[in-house]
Amino acid sequence: MRKVAIIGASGLLGRAVSRELERADGWQLVRTAHRRTGAGVVSLDIRDHEAVRNFLRAESPDAVVVAAAERRPDVCENDPALARALNVEALATIAEARAWVLSISTDYVFDGTSPPYFPDDAPAPLNAYGHSKLDGERALLSADPAACVLRLPLLYGPFVDWAESAVTSLTPAIVQSAETGSAPASMDAWATRYPTYTPDVAVVIRGMLDHHARGHTISGITQWSGDEPMTKFDIAERIARVLKVDAKLTAQRTPTDATPRPRDCHLDSGRLEALGIGRRTPFDVAIASLLANYPAMPTQ
Ligand SMILES: NC(=O)c1ccc[n+]([C@@H]2O[C@H](COP(=O)([O-])OP(=O)(O)OC[C@H]3O[C@@H](n4cnc5c(N)ncnc54)[C@H](OP(=O)(O)O)[C@@H]3O)[C@@H](O)[C@H]2O)c1
Repeated sequence: MRKVAIIGASGLLGRAVSRELERADGWQLVRTAHRRTGAGVVSLDIRDHEAVRNFLRAESPDAVVVAAAERRPDVCENDPALARALNVEALATIAEARAWVLSISTDYVFDGTSPPYFPDDAPAPLNAYGHSKLDGERALLSADPAACVLRLPLLYGPFVDWAESAVTSLTPAIVQSAETGSAPASMDAWATRYPTYTPDVAVVIRGMLDHHARGHTISGITQWSGDEPMTKFDIAERIARVLKVDAKLTAQRTPTDATPRPRDCHLDSGRLEALGIGRRTPFDVAIASLLANYPAMPTQ
């Protein structure tokens, strides 16, 4: 039995990874959270470097999966010190662990002008979030070249709040637009996204951990992505179809966000695919299961 620590196990991705590893053979799980702690979850603020060192020393895991981050682009833009503390400085300390570290990064390290992007392509982030995640990749890999970064695009999956994912956050406006007398909901039709289902990412991460356990540690930069390109407008139309509501949607064909965002960061997943790692649940299947009990949230 090997021990894996999931740092940030209470988040959208951390919960999916925890669920996958709870079911998997061969892995003993230690989960940490910051605000949303509960039974069996260690309280850990990754800005507290001594606490991080003490946790890693006490648990002595074989592997550490880092899903804790500040991932809201607008928050990173307005609070660069917080973004740096969570997305960069904490990784330099976690890199000291005598364990294989797998840290999650983002497609926003690219500027989105010439997809698809391969792991070795030159990054060029457009916003503070992308800059902090790129600096975090570099802090981790320069401190520990055996560590691994997994870049991911827009995530969605079992959620506890509609706003947890930029996919499910569209739902209230879609439903409201269908009500008599409501104004149409404006949806971005400029940026192409590749929504990626968190239970699929969890399977990818378990596959990477199993490789490590077999002595074939994966190091450096890896990427995983869903393979269905869609704009938020397309996503909204699919959600409306699942909910069988007559949504009134308008396509917004120019970006309106205050924070600059890339247009198309399609990530090539070939490195992991070549190792036989991966799973892709079709978007319509996944979103239908998440919204099956609407307006109730999916059971986690
Ligand atoms: N969501 C996406 O669409 C997306 C896309 C690409 C890449 N990513 C990357 O995927 C990873 C996971 O993202 P996510 O969507 O699961 O994020 P999330 O839902 O916002 O979860 C963030 C996690 O970080 C923890 N955390 C926050 N502040 C902390 C602190 N000071 N100390 C320790 N833990 C802290 C949170 O704990 P509490 O909730 O308990 O406070 C939570 O477990 C991140 O690296 C993100 O950059 C996300």
